[in-house]
Amino acid sequence: MISYTELGLVNTVELFKKAVSGGYALPAYNFNNLEQLQAIIQACAETKSPVILQVSSGARKYANQNLLKNMAKGAVEYANELGCNVPIVLHLDHGDSFELCKDCIETGFSSVMIDGSHYSYEENVALTKKVVEFAHSRKDYVSVEGELGVLAGVEDDVSSEHSHYTQPEEVEDFVKRTGVDSLAISIGTSHGRTKFKPEQCTRDPNGVLIPPPLRFDILEAIEKRIPGFPIVLHGASSVPVEYVQMVEKYGGKLSDSVGIPEEQLRRAANSAVCKINIDSDGRLAMTALIRKVLAEIPDEFDPRKILGPAREELKKLYAHKNINVLGSANRV
Ligand code: 13P
Repeated sequence: MISYTELGLVNTVELFKKAVSGGYALPAYNFNNLEQLQAIIQACAETKSPVILQVSSGARKYANQNLLKNMAKGAVEYANELGCNVPIVLHLDHGDSFELCKDCIETGFSSVMIDGSHYSYEENVALTKKVVEFAHSRKDYVSVEGELGVLAGVEDDVSSEHSHYTQPEEVEDFVKRTGVDSLAISIGTSHGRTKFKPEQCTRDPNGVLIPPPLRFDILEAIEKRIPGFPIVLHGASSVPVEYVQMVEKYGGKLSDSVGIPEEQLRRAANSAVCKINIDSDGRLAMTALIRKVLAEIPDEFDPRKILGPAREELKKLYAHKNINVLGSANRV
């Protein structure tokens, strides 16, 4: 058993307080491998942004939990080495059981999400409360994110064909009864690169899909009921058209890709939304650059030369998000 403080990590409590009062959102970037982690830490150290490193249960299986834990420890040391001691959270994304959350808490995570959104309301309350009681009773308080409302889309082990929006009239009771530190809500975002069906969108003159706007009315109704309480937005990749086009130019097929426009995320980050989850954009940037290198230099077979440009692009992407979308730059 190890506590996150021994790894140099922090929980989300103080970070969320500052983000809510400062009108910005913390980046929550998913990672599974070395290059992604390097890019996240380089971008966040350079832009002086706190960061939440997100690990899904799929990532844990893929990369090995011991390796991931030690990578997070290494990330703290690496940020120091880069001259910026940014606060780093290690967070379980979409924990689906008490046992998984407990295991993560006992192996160095400073924050966990328990996603009971697919259960009935009462089952969700009971499961979330059980995780909160365990996490908060630790000597080093581990923060817990719960979820109300269902996001559509596919993400690692989590998938749902249909979404339903968070019902504002439930949030007060949920937060009070469970004791969660933050709440993920559903206002129209979804996981993956195809966030809306083409028939839900309009098209610009170039044929690019324009998605329907997020339901800011629901967000505002939620904020009224739990003023200042930290809200989390999942499924918040913008799915940049440049990356989709680059993937397709070099042989990929990513039809009907559509994400959340950046100006809507900026608006959300100014509100009580204090954590914005981004995974798909990183996957797209990596895939685009890997395809480009492989297509342009067919005799290249050194993985560092293939993955290096992808890592550089990822770093640029994350720095851009911190500075221009989330507003988390220069908050350390
Ligand atoms: P995206 O698929 O939009 O990147 O969402 C990721 C996410 O919400 C992780 O929990």
